[in-house]
Amino acid sequence: MAHGKLILQNNDNATVVAADLCKPETVLSPAVTEFLDFTQPIGLLMVAVFHFVPDERHPADIIARYRDALPPGSLLALSHLTADHKPTEMAGVVEAMKNSRDPMYFRPYDAVLPLFEGFDLVEPGLVSAPQWHPDPDAPTDTTEGVYAASASSAKPTPTYQPSPTPPRCSFRPSSEPEHLPGRTEARQVLDGAEWFLRG
Ligand SMILES: C[S@@+](CC[C@H](N)C(=O)[O-])C[C@H]1O[C@@H](n2cnc3c(N)ncnc32)[C@H](O)[C@@H]1O
Repeated sequence: MAHGKLILQNNDNATVVAADLCKPETVLSPAVTEFLDFTQPIGLLMVAVFHFVPDERHPADIIARYRDALPPGSLLALSHLTADHKPTEMAGVVEAMKNSRDPMYFRPYDAVLPLFEGFDLVEPGLVSAPQWHPDPDAPTDTTEGVYAASASSAKPTPTYQPSPTPPRCSFRPSSEPEHLPGRTEARQVLDGAEWFLRG
């Protein structure tokens, strides 16, 4: 927290809140809902956090609460560690973290996919992270111990209307309205997303 606040102290377009991501009401506090412009699509980054959430906390239900709070046209980017590709190595990680403050719960593909319930996956869907929109020269035949996907909230992208008072943070859809976000919008969000949820 202290480091985050320090590096963002001169950034008027970012804020920091201390919250438990498993309790969306603590993340979606006025400090956030009054800072971000909820009349415009929002990019929600859940990068490398949900493998800290055990099944008994019902991760899909938690994500659904964020989904329901997002404005139309919003996008979710989520990555999640898995033991699918390197079971031996990843079992060692789980074992090493077992008694730490942050035990980890790697999930197989079939358990990560339901986390996107109620979203429309942006192509190429849920894939090994190096295969999600790789840079032109990057190898795509590799797999890593992490799945990644981006998804749109299943509501149409609204027609963009400039706010009378410019919000401090908002994502500006640049393309025509009346279509669901695709690769271009996903990339825009990932490149220029609001700092919304960083562990
Ligand atoms: C692997 S780091 C990823 C951080 C960041 N998303 C990034 O990509 O750099 C995971 C972070 O999530 C935090 N974390 C774990 N469980 C959390 C929870 N319930 N609420 C908020 N943060 C949590 C951990 O403390 C850790 O700082």
